Amino acid sequence: MTITPKTAEDIEGMRLAGRLASEVLDYLTPFVKPGVTTREIDKLAHDYMVDVQQGVPATLGYQPPGYPAYPASLCTSLNDVVCHGIPDDRPLKDGDIVNIDVTVIKNGWHGDNSRMFLVGNTSIAARRLCAVTFEAMWKGILKVKPGARLGDIGHAIQMYAEHNGFSVVREFCGHGVGAKFHEEPQVLHYGRPGTLETLVPGMTFTIEPMINAGRRDIKEDRKGNRPYDGWTIVTRDRSLSAQWEHTLLVTETGFEILTLSAGSPPPPPFALDAGYVCPVHTTA
Ligand code: MF3
Ligand code: CO
Ligand code: CO
Repeated sequence: MTITPKTAEDIEGMRLAGRLASEVLDYLTPFVKPGVTTREIDKLAHDYMVDVQQGVPATLGYQPPGYPAYPASLCTSLNDVVCHGIPDDRPLKDGDIVNIDVTVIKNGWHGDNSRMFLVGNTSIAARRLCAVTFEAMWKGILKVKPGARLGDIGHAIQMYAEHNGFSVVREFCGHGVGAKFHEEPQVLHYGRPGTLETLVPGMTFTIEPMINAGRRDIKEDRKGNRPYDGWTIVTRDRSLSAQWEHTLLVTETGFEILTLSAGSPPPPPFALDAGYVCPVHTTA
């Protein structure tokens, strides 16, 4: 594999892009309420990235081989949508859960992140899925350090999700990120410890587990007789799915989360127990 570690200068670029991507989610948070449409959220995010951040929404017009050009500035994956949901004119309703995934390009560097949003009063089951998925992402993050293997990350995520009775989507994974949106390596959210790529300082990649309440199987979202939109993926059994995403840097001693900002949710207690000190949630 060809993974070129970032230089000190590259990392400064990635830090800025990552913070901006997280700040878009902060900005959107108060708008994610019953009654708002995902298209309205998309417009808010687009204008914030372009006009306030002087950045570029990486997803707008993004077209990997075999896909149509993606038509929006973020992804909104609602309830049983696993990933790549396209914003539309349906209002969010009480009890929905929605993943909002934002990627900003700033000075040529990509910052990629997503969070779950609980709309109004949600079920205990939905809240538990979102919480366990957040914690599963963190189980993976805590494995990141020089000398660790990508299989260590995937294994930690899979064990945590499955021990909580949930399943891990296999078809989509985290990815190297930098001057390109998606680059090597693939970061699987399942696997065996001690396998796959060895991490070295300067690598930047995402961890973005998609966790289903039911079975892990997925399908393209073909609604009735309408043509497939080319993107939207749902759970095969129509159970709820959740996802969280951060962009990470491998440092000399461990990891740095690049997609952090004032509104980032606090790390789970087990991360603090493991010695993680969050730069935005310091109590001192
Ligand atoms: N942001 C997604 C990821 O985490 C990719 C979205 S590609 C799109 O990798 F075209 F669907 F927007
Ligand atoms: Co990503
Ligand atoms: Co993303």
